[in-house]
Amino acid sequence: MRLFKTVDEVRSFINSVRREGKTVGLVPTMGYLHQGHLSLVHEAKRSCDVVIVSIFVNPTQFDPNEDYQTYPRDLQRDVALVADAGVEAIFAPEAEEMYSQGFSSFVDVTGVSECLCGASRPGHFRGVATVVTKLFNIVLPDAAFFGQKDFQQVMVIKRMVADLNMSVQIIDVPIVREEDGLALSSRNVYLSQEERKAALVLHRSLHLAKEQVNEGERSAQQIKERIIKEIQAEPLANIDYVEILSVPDLKPIEIIKGNVLLALAVRFGKTRLIDNSILEA
Ligand code: PAJ
Repeated sequence: MRLFKTVDEVRSFINSVRREGKTVGLVPTMGYLHQGHLSLVHEAKRSCDVVIVSIFVNPTQFDPNEDYQTYPRDLQRDVALVADAGVEAIFAPEAEEMYSQGFSSFVDVTGVSECLCGASRPGHFRGVATVVTKLFNIVLPDAAFFGQKDFQQVMVIKRMVADLNMSVQIIDVPIVREEDGLALSSRNVYLSQEERKAALVLHRSLHLAKEQVNEGERSAQQIKERIIKEIQAEPLANIDYVEILSVPDLKPIEIIKGNVLLALAVRFGKTRLIDNSILEA
């Protein structure tokens, strides 16, 4: 497996792969890899000849008061995991390689990026859309793989690709969970033992909402209220948002019809976790 630090190295690698007529899959990540990331890698391996994983903690998608500095990093461990998975290359640039002095161009996806995490984390999706565009321009992948764990992120990227005529197929992959239901996340390492236990309220709430829909409840407000009650009963949990929205445009809805998104963001101590599920009426 090759480990690239510069854009030029990636470009010449991709050129040689292309000359051999092979297809390229890109898995963008911020590293500290877990089975959720690896499920994207496996999906990419299944459908592309050559897979490149990017590992880059992207400063432009963090607010100044967020965890950019302390975000968990372990490149050595990531390299071993990715090599084990049979990936051809990693692109792990330094921040200066991606954002040179005087950098001043950004990609802004309006609409779908404004609610949920876009409302709680202003500028977040501008940073995501910008770095993903840069990665697409560097790697020129046939397909790129994203997890449904960040459902809104997938919607933002799909919108961007359609709007800006980017020639890449976006493939979304189901959420990978721990056995007890907690969605895997690089940020789970921040949780204390008590917070880790408390965080199970997320999965429990998604399950509860599904049960309610199965029992015939169709009022988004009723379901939200029930879930808010469930989360508030957990003393270590602080709700950021509980929303039920249409898919794929992420607009508020009153009556649940067809497939809708239930999205949760909850703080446990200093750690903000997100989770979601599709409710099918
Ligand atoms: P990161 O949080 O490292 O996630 C990289 C990819 O892994 C994302 O597509 C995310 O949805 C997916 N992922 C994370 N946890 C998952 C889980 N439990 N199950 C399935 N997929 C999971 O998302 C980012 O990085 C960044 O915003 C990025 C797209 C790399 C741009 O900087």
